[in-house]
Amino acid sequence: MKKILFVIGTRPEAIKMAPLIKGFLAQSDIFDLHLCLTAQHRQMLDQVIDFFQLQPHTDLDLMTPNQSLSALSSRLMDGITAVIENFKPDYVFVHGDTSTAMIASLASFYLKKKIVHIEAGLRTQNIYSPFPEEANRQIISRLATLHMAPTLQSQQVLLDEKVNEEHITVTGNTVIDALFLGLKIVKESPSEKLQRFKNSLTKAPVILVTTHRRENQGKGILEICKALKAIAIEFSGFQIVFPVHLNPKILQPVHQELKGIDNIQLLEPLDYELFIWIMQRSYLIITDSGGIQEEAPSLNKPVLVMREFTERQEAVASGAVLLVGNDKERIIKETRNLINNKTHYNKMAGAVNPYGDGTAVAKIIDVMKSLDA
Ligand code: UD1
Ligand code: UDP
Repeated sequence: MKKILFVIGTRPEAIKMAPLIKGFLAQSDIFDLHLCLTAQHRQMLDQVIDFFQLQPHTDLDLMTPNQSLSALSSRLMDGITAVIENFKPDYVFVHGDTSTAMIASLASFYLKKKIVHIEAGLRTQNIYSPFPEEANRQIISRLATLHMAPTLQSQQVLLDEKVNEEHITVTGNTVIDALFLGLKIVKESPSEKLQRFKNSLTKAPVILVTTHRRENQGKGILEICKALKAIAIEFSGFQIVFPVHLNPKILQPVHQELKGIDNIQLLEPLDYELFIWIMQRSYLIITDSGGIQEEAPSLNKPVLVMREFTERQEAVASGAVLLVGNDKERIIKETRNLINNKTHYNKMAGAVNPYGDGTAVAKIIDVMKSLDA
């Protein structure tokens, strides 16, 4: 039996790890699995755990309101170290670039445990953007034993950093596996909550918005709100649907600036099933999210990305996403362009998804099966 510890802390880690965890659980004769939630996120993590019906073995319950990176990191280090010492895994699986993933890697390294990094090799090469994620992912790459790279480009990044080629597997991104699994669950057993959500919307086309990055906090979020206000006025036949991240640095300014505007719906973070439904229902998406940029091309939705730097160059190159930063005029101009110029719209919407075909989980499990413990 290979003992595998999964450590996850935030909404996107849970979404992208869920199909992988389910895949390993289906092979419990070979793998002994322990799922540890750090709960760096609480409500937003629980929404995903519930939807995919995952059963955590440990819940460290670490989130505090408005947490600082340093205090969170210190709690993570103590909590995860204890879990590793108790479970004694052969492999520790971490995902992406969150504080949970970076500290879980460091804790594993200190205890000389092998680390498997899912979604390895993403880079902007600017350690301050996204902050602190770019530094987190570079640190994890130095510590990891196995690197599951979503694309050939991310594999090349790792090769350029002298990672041994034999330790890298190109898998596609598990987000596509999660999306297909989510769509299947929604189709087979849609919840009453989804029906209520559908009923709550008017027939108007939807502009879906999310934001949370540290680079957009402060002045950036105010610019974004001004842009959305202007778009709501100019395109009054559209409805802007904005599930707002629970970070007070986002939640407070967004409600202050956008509350009470007729065609802007400020919502709580949506359960994954509601979110993938509203993505499908959208005309276009404006976001600074990483995961949404990877999902949207599979649903043929153009994405305006409110960031200056991106580690997801493949989506820019394929034409599925366009970087617009957080400049008010640029966001308005590119939204106008997507609404008024159908050729441009169709080109973006029709771009091929470079992040895989939903077979990442199978590829990762094959790699793990081929290894000695
Ligand atoms: C974190 C990750 C980021 C990831 C994002 C996904 C780090 C440093 N950042 O950023 O990489 O893209 O999650 O959303 O790891 N909060 C709640 N309830 C929740 C979640 C958050 O109230 O369920 C509030 C809390 O006040 C919390 C704050 O949001 O202190 C910030 O959460 P945190 O995980 O530190 O940062 P994010 O901006 O969410
Ligand atoms: N998502 C969700 N509900 C929402 C907003 C987003 O389920 O209200 C999902 C989305 O489909 C994607 C993931 O959350 O899979 C993205 O998370 P987030 O933007 O918080 O983090 P990032 O991907 O930027 O790290």
